[in-house]
Amino acid sequence: MSKIQSRPVPAHVAIIMDGNGRWANARGLPRTMGHRKGVEAVREAVRTAGGAGVRYLTLFAFSSENWRRPEEEVSDLMGLLKMFIRRDLADLHRENVRIRVIGDRDGLRSDILPLLVEAEETTWNNTGITLVIAFNYGARDEMARAVRALAIDVANGRLRPEEITPACISARLDTAGIPDPDLILRTSGEERLSNFLLWQGAYSELMFVPELWPDFTRDVFLSALERYAARERRFGGLSPQPRAVAGS
Ligand code: FPP
Repeated sequence: MSKIQSRPVPAHVAIIMDGNGRWANARGLPRTMGHRKGVEAVREAVRTAGGAGVRYLTLFAFSSENWRRPEEEVSDLMGLLKMFIRRDLADLHRENVRIRVIGDRDGLRSDILPLLVEAEETTWNNTGITLVIAFNYGARDEMARAVRALAIDVANGRLRPEEITPACISARLDTAGIPDPDLILRTSGEERLSNFLLWQGAYSELMFVPELWPDFTRDVFLSALERYAARERRFGGLSPQPRAVAGS
């Protein structure tokens, strides 16, 4: 696998995988076929990210708003996630991939939740790339759950209101322990965050690529990483100034 030699590689890339439906429509196929092809792109993206030295790859697989889609499509997406875990878990484990799942677990179907938990538990001690699957995820919902947890700690006397810091909030988000994304990328040309990692993305570089998710190949991913490497991140500070020469 090629590495991007001596260029800054983002430690954490988060992707809004958009465009499966349009990919299928353009071929006169049912939307499901777009999602199926999308799973192949997921496999390729995990391998590409791992090979490039990315440490965390977060994929937005199902949003808390996706329940509004027709029942048949929701059921297809659930089926694909189940199939992905059942078929790919052993391979991912062999490849040393660690799996984390973020999103609201309350009320998840009884045939889905145990699979997600199994994927996390099986791969817990792996040391390769962490694949974070955002499932039934919405950033506002995640923040509301974190605020609720804080309120409970305050009500129980474990925390005083004046002790609440951004770090207290981060520690109660689903992503606790995962570094903030360096790069948030969305496919399909849409330029929105759609309730994805709103807290964690405060300083993320944003990138929008025209390719539909099923067309997000290794080459497209690597060229996005090249574009990232050329960006300058300042985190609210100033550009690094050339160092003064001693005595000048
Ligand atoms: C957006 O395309 C994509 C989704 C809502 C789901 C993404 C899911 C997968 C790629 C498969 C399952 C995931 C994993 C991790 C195995 P869209 O349907 O909104 O496309 P459109 O905007 O063209 O209609």
